[in-house]
Amino acid sequence: MKEYKIALLGGDGIGPEVVAQGVKVLNAAGEKFGIKFEYEKALIGGCAYEKTGTPLPEETVSLAKSSDAVFLGAVGDWKYDTLPPEVRPEKALLGIRKALNLFANLRPAIVYEELVSSSPLKPEIVNGVDIMIIRELTGDVYFGEPRGVGVIDGRNAGYNNMIYYEDEVERIAHVAFKTAMKRTKRLCSVDKANVLDVSRLWREVVIRVSKQYPEVELSHMYVDNAAMQIIRAPKQFDTIVTGNIFGDILSDEASMLPGSLGMLPSASLSDTKLGMYEPIHGSAPDLKGKDVVNPIATILSASMMLKYSFDNDEAALAIENAVKSVLKAGYRTPDIKSEGSTIIGTERMGTLIAQAILS
Ligand code: NAD
Ligand code: IPM
Ligand code: MN
Repeated sequence: MKEYKIALLGGDGIGPEVVAQGVKVLNAAGEKFGIKFEYEKALIGGCAYEKTGTPLPEETVSLAKSSDAVFLGAVGDWKYDTLPPEVRPEKALLGIRKALNLFANLRPAIVYEELVSSSPLKPEIVNGVDIMIIRELTGDVYFGEPRGVGVIDGRNAGYNNMIYYEDEVERIAHVAFKTAMKRTKRLCSVDKANVLDVSRLWREVVIRVSKQYPEVELSHMYVDNAAMQIIRAPKQFDTIVTGNIFGDILSDEASMLPGSLGMLPSASLSDTKLGMYEPIHGSAPDLKGKDVVNPIATILSASMMLKYSFDNDEAALAIENAVKSVLKAGYRTPDIKSEGSTIIGTERMGTLIAQAILS
């Protein structure tokens, strides 16, 4: 029997609720496919700050490093908005991504047939959408130096540095081309090369790397146009590669193709097998503790864990199929409700998906 150790970082707000459903489903997959998961919990985000004075305790990082995968909910709450930037919950997320060298963030936006009617967009626009957004995760304006708030030439200013090193673009480009090779071999690199120097280098490097992948059809698009095209005609995209901040924004936008932020999972990968898996949404403090949020983004993140960290495509697919079958049976959390559907809560959704795996 295979055994894996998973670091469980529930975090803040709805984080622990959705991770609990992910664990339920992982355990069902474990039972079905003969895999044993050992979980160890640790603090991250606002809850960690309250207990230890730092949003990312050392023990959390060392637990993550000694695990086979990290399963994360979300961090943040409005009540921490006035904290100094260094101890804000969000800083912990950036910190753990950097500490584990998780430079490649895979954010699939897939519209299951069952969810076509949950999208605010027309069925003919979203039906059949299957996009893989590859977001660079450890560089860009998120980490660039110098940054801060202070007086420059006598004027008060806030500043960040949008910077990419050539080697950072190169390694994410390789991930993108390799991913595209396993899909329909179409890759669109999204940048702002008409204005930004950092994007000019980005584009140059992507084009250079493309020579090693002659079978992949590479295109380029400016980010403002890409934001529009994702809504106008999303099926033109297969694999998208982009920088940290553009990827953050475009992936939230893409969640409206299936109709909810609660549907988009993610995998954050490095050059080892240790990855971190989390929904792309945040801690939704408004919905905490009400048993109403959609756990599917987190459950699908567990599926990505099986695929990318544990090389178990069969178990990963079983989770995906279980999600589809529960949706097909008409069960919905409120965010994806459609005509004639049966509205259920977070816990019940997790239970039904777990049962579907075992049935
Ligand atoms: P959010 O993603 O938490 O919520 C945006 C909207 O989507 C809200 O209306 C929320 O109720 C809804 N929503 C989110 N997840 C949902 C789900 N699973 N099911 C149903 N509805 C869902 O973003 P926000 O409101 O801008 O930020 C809230 C906090 O979360 C902030 O502190 C922010 O920094 C943090 N945040 C954390 C992460 C993360 O941990 N990865 C990601 C984004 C935001
Ligand atoms: C995400 C979030 C984070 C980001 C924040 C909370 C730091 O929005 O994971 O998409 O900007 O990367
Ligand atoms: Mn985001």
